This record gives sequence, C-alpha cells and structure tokens, in this order.
Amino acid sequence: MTHSSSWSALEAVKQRISHRTYDGLPLPPDVRETLEKALREPPLAPFGSRVRLALVEKSSAGQPVRLGTYGIIRGATTFLVGAIQRVEHAEEDFGFVFEWAILRATSLGLGTCWLGGTLRRGEFATALGLRPGEFIPAATPVGYAAGRRSIMDAMTRWGAGSKHRKPWSELFFAGSFQAPLSETDSGAYATVLEMVRLAPSASNRQPWRIVMDRERRAFHLFLQRTAGYGYPGVDLQRIDMGIAMCHFELSVRELGIEGGWTQKDVDVKPLPARTSYLASWTMGA
Ligand SMILES: Cc1cc2nc3c(=O)[nH]c(=O)nc-3n(C[C@H](O)[C@H](O)[C@H](O)COP(=O)(O)O)c2cc1C
Repeated sequence: MTHSSSWSALEAVKQRISHRTYDGLPLPPDVRETLEKALREPPLAPFGSRVRLALVEKSSAGQPVRLGTYGIIRGATTFLVGAIQRVEHAEEDFGFVFEWAILRATSLGLGTCWLGGTLRRGEFATALGLRPGEFIPAATPVGYAAGRRSIMDAMTRWGAGSKHRKPWSELFFAGSFQAPLSETDSGAYATVLEMVRLAPSASNRQPWRIVMDRERRAFHLFLQRTAGYGYPGVDLQRIDMGIAMCHFELSVRELGIEGGWTQKDVDVKPLPARTSYLASWTMGA
C-alpha cells in the first residue's frame, strides 16, 4: 500500500458529518497539496463515467469569485467542485467519486458539506470552467470547521434530522422486502451495511434499500424514491445511490472481501412503491 492511499475509509465514514461554518482561513499548503494529489487519482466509478474534480477559491489573485450558497455556508475559502458528462448513470457515478473525495478530505481532518441544492451552479461552473456536455451535480466547501456552528448551520442540521439514520429494519432485507435482514444474519457484511446506513444523503432521506439474495451470494441495491421529493435539474436521490455504492465498495475493499458490481435480472417481488433496481454486489465476482 502506498503512503498516499494509507487512510481508512471506515474511520472517515464514522467521523464525517456536514459542516456549514468554517474558520475563514485558507488551507495550509501541505494539506492542500496532499488533497490535490489524491484528487488526481480518483477510483473508477461503477458505471464507467469520468468525474472531473477541482479545488476552486472564493477569491484568486485579488479577484473575488462569487460562489454563492444562499447563505448556508459561512467562512469557507475553498470549495471542491465536480463535473460530469450527461450520460446514463452519471449521477450515481458522480455520487460514488465525489463521496470518495469527501471521505479522503475527512481523513485529512477537513470539514465538508455536500451541496446539491443550495449552490449557485452558474457561479461554480464559471469558476471550474465547464466544458461542453458537462454539468455540475454538486460541490462542497473544504476547510477547517469553526468551533461554533452558525444559527443557519444548526437550523439546517435540525431541519434535515441530520443526526438520525433509519434503523436496519427499514433499509436491509433478506430475500424479499417482506423480511428484514438482521445484523447477525448479514455475517461478514454487517460492518459494510452499517457503513451504508451512516452515509449522507440529500435532505437525509436515505433512499437506498438493499436485499440480500436467497443464496446469500449477492446484495441487490434499490432506489426507493421519497414521495414528492425532487430538485429541478439534478436527480439528487440517484447521487445518494452512488454514495451508498461508494460506502459499500470502500468498506468491502478495506475488509478484504472479494466481489464486484453487476446488473442482473433480479427476482425480488413484490417491490414496494416508488422502488427500482439499480445494481448488485456479487460476492467473489
Ligand atoms: C446529494 C446531496 C446533496 C445535499 N445538498 C445539500 C444542500 O444543498 N445544502 C445543505 O445544506 N446540505 C446538503 N446536503 C447535506 C445533507 O443534508 C446531510 O448530508 C444529511 O442531512 C446528513 O447529515 P450529515 O451529513 O451531517 O451526516 C446534501 C447531501 C447530499 C448527499
């Protein structure tokens, strides 16, 4: 294992929470360099898209750039922005790679906050230099969190119920959506599923559902859309699915479990309302 990759995704998943209030200082040059170096080698996204990642400054060479967040983010000087081509499963791939970058920043002690709704996309597009066919699904501040949260920060966290996660019984199933999967029945995958459970999601809606197949050879991922939830121009719940895949894959890799993503004809019936199949993790594949 090279030095640059010797960080623990499991630790970062447990540490990460969203920060919306920063200390106003630029990143120390060595920390910035380590992060930039890591960002040059992102992992392969599950559906094969390439995500372009870049750090952008709120002001450069005395020239302030507006990077508006509707007053949600305070004191941040640096943002990480990502762009991707509009293709099938672009959102999932983006979620996967951008969450990896967020966890890597977390491992360096930096604060972050996924911004998929409260960002002025046009300003971030100008700062990044958007290329033809690309769009910006999300951005995040990167910096040191201030000791005290702003009132806006505290209210946003409270409003989204950010401290809470759905219980296992609502997220993970055995064979069908009728049978909840217990931690003991998931064996070596208990930690992996717990890491998915802790993942961030847009408005903390946690739209991921996982069904372990009857032969216990695969985990099938489903998107269960939140009724009436949506944002114009970007499918935030598909980004959430990519985040879940990221937590799943980084966890199995760190635990030394073999397997890979596939898409199959799954026989999971009946499906709950607003629920659709995305992909499966197949053991040993
Ligand atoms: C795809 C995505 C988009 C998000 N967009 C915003 C946003 O626009 N503004 C914001 O304040 N928080 C945003 N969040 C942060 C979530 O509200 C937060 O992750 C969730 O409430 C869980 O809290 P935690 O990150 O502290 O664990 C977003 C999260 C995700 C995953």
